[in-house]
Amino acid sequence: MCGIFAYKGPQKNAAHIVINGLKKLEYRGYDSWGIAFKNRNNEIEIHKEIGKISEIDLDSLKDTENHLAIGHTRWATHGGVTRANAHPHSSEDKSIAVIHNGIIENYLEIKKDLQKKGHKFASETDTEIIVHLIEENMSLGFEKAFHKTLEKINGRFAIIAIYDKEDKIIAARKGSPLIVGLNDEKKEYFIASDIPAFLKYTNKVMYLDDNQMVIVNDELKFYDIQNFKSIEKRVIEIDWHEEMAEKGDHPHFMIKEIFEQKDTLSRAINQDEEKIKEVAQAIKSAYGTFLVGCGTAGKVCHAASYIFSQVAKKHVNFTFGSEFPSYHHFLTDRTLMIAVSQSGETADTLEAMEIAKEKGVKLVSIVNVETSTMARMSDIVLPVKAGPEKAVASTKATTSQLAILTLLAYACADKLQEGKQLLINTAAQINDMINPRYEEHIETLANKIKDVESMYVIGKSLNYPMALEAAIKLQEVSYIHAEGFAGGELKHGPIALISEGTPCIAIIANDETKNEILSNAMEIKARGGYIIGVSPDNNEIFDYWLKTPDAGDASPIVNIIPIQILAYKLAVLRKNNPDMPRNLAKSVTVK
Ligand code: AGP
Ligand code: GLU
Repeated sequence: MCGIFAYKGPQKNAAHIVINGLKKLEYRGYDSWGIAFKNRNNEIEIHKEIGKISEIDLDSLKDTENHLAIGHTRWATHGGVTRANAHPHSSEDKSIAVIHNGIIENYLEIKKDLQKKGHKFASETDTEIIVHLIEENMSLGFEKAFHKTLEKINGRFAIIAIYDKEDKIIAARKGSPLIVGLNDEKKEYFIASDIPAFLKYTNKVMYLDDNQMVIVNDELKFYDIQNFKSIEKRVIEIDWHEEMAEKGDHPHFMIKEIFEQKDTLSRAINQDEEKIKEVAQAIKSAYGTFLVGCGTAGKVCHAASYIFSQVAKKHVNFTFGSEFPSYHHFLTDRTLMIAVSQSGETADTLEAMEIAKEKGVKLVSIVNVETSTMARMSDIVLPVKAGPEKAVASTKATTSQLAILTLLAYACADKLQEGKQLLINTAAQINDMINPRYEEHIETLANKIKDVESMYVIGKSLNYPMALEAAIKLQEVSYIHAEGFAGGELKHGPIALISEGTPCIAIIANDETKNEILSNAMEIKARGGYIIGVSPDNNEIFDYWLKTPDAGDASPIVNIIPIQILAYKLAVLRKNNPDMPRNLAKSVTVK
């Protein structure tokens, strides 16, 4: 959940490098931050604060002669957002500092045990037990004490530790991402939870897999945590560039990423056709296919279940990652799971995949981060190719995931080329649709409704999950109470919520559902609702019209885009930070 960054190398100001790296990771967690570095007297100096790291005054760090530093942006799980709970946490004698991403499930029993032994705790976090455990075992030496600690803790984690008497960084992972970046000639090493943190310095990376640890000294040494035996790792060169992870001329990542949908769809549909056919065949021959994702990716799965029904006359199940465990009785080695995720690191989806893997289920993943845990544990990976998505609210990854699933549905119906052509046309339509005039038109609407308390979204069939997705977008960045419904469900209860002027977005595709969903919109209008139509054609019942192209089975892709822009505009008008909405983090690596 949080952002982790560590640096060891020849550059003089490791602390500044770490702070700048953390700023690039802030989208992962931003309630507090902290750094620890070895100062010129070989003491560990810790600076931590509540709030965003972007607000730091760099001059407050006087020591500029340091070559080893670690840093953390927190998304609190255990203990409130306080300075004391911010990471790094240090041992009582201040010789060891630790940062941690994840949750230590058995921290309470370890804490009690350590307290009996006389350890005094300075925070309420689960993390702090790690540094006390290392301290407890320091008679074995730093490396072994760190390793022994790993044997005692349960849960998902990424941990980094430093010790004032040794010039090394030790890190380990189990379930939370950690990537090593390196420039071997310069003896310069980085460890981070995500690549953009060090892209400025290197695009050479080595991935830590689960149950592995790395010791960074003047070289890198990797170990298997289970037996503490050394292992070999490969250096991989990645083709992301620094600019891809920057805002460019846009004020926020969210709007930059929304506009990138002019290109991302074309990249997404440019898939290896043999692989698409292989997955389509696997869907056809499976005894049950589960589409699994969380949040927005979950809504994509939901939409895909309609697309498969409509295009391929094929029933596929969909479920959220967190709900998947209840279905484990239905899994056999003939089942297929398709995991959908931007980050490839979402704990709930990963757990679902682990459960499935144990039952021999074949795993396919549709992920944006190709080197993520999900991608690496899958039998087949269909890359989303949207490039780094940094705004917390998913936009470009969403439409690209929808495109790939639409392609798969067409492949299942043995109409891959037809599906491809549909999506090529849709990409061109999106290119025409997103322009500054369209943005302005939506901004005018945002100005009209920015102070409302609640708003609702309705859709039907393929576009019902898009109504749910629209609600997530509006909730997470505008903080307006928003809910999505199947249009036909309104009269069964929710219509009681409509009063004079309540904005209600009706997503209306140009298909056989059109008249029914128009009737649902009329039912709302009759109760005073303010109707915002998202559709190819205008209609007299609309109070405001957001025109979308007629994209046939690809309508979910085009229909969500104006609502993404609306959510963004509302966030800005309401003075929210759309890139880092409150209480959220980009990558949810805890359950
Ligand atoms: C999207 O706008 C949300 N921030 C969130 O629902 C997200 O889609 C969810 O956490 C899943 O993330 P993933 O795609 O990285 O697995
Ligand atoms: N569980 C730890 C805490 O609450 C780490 C949270 C995180 O991943 O940011 O401090």
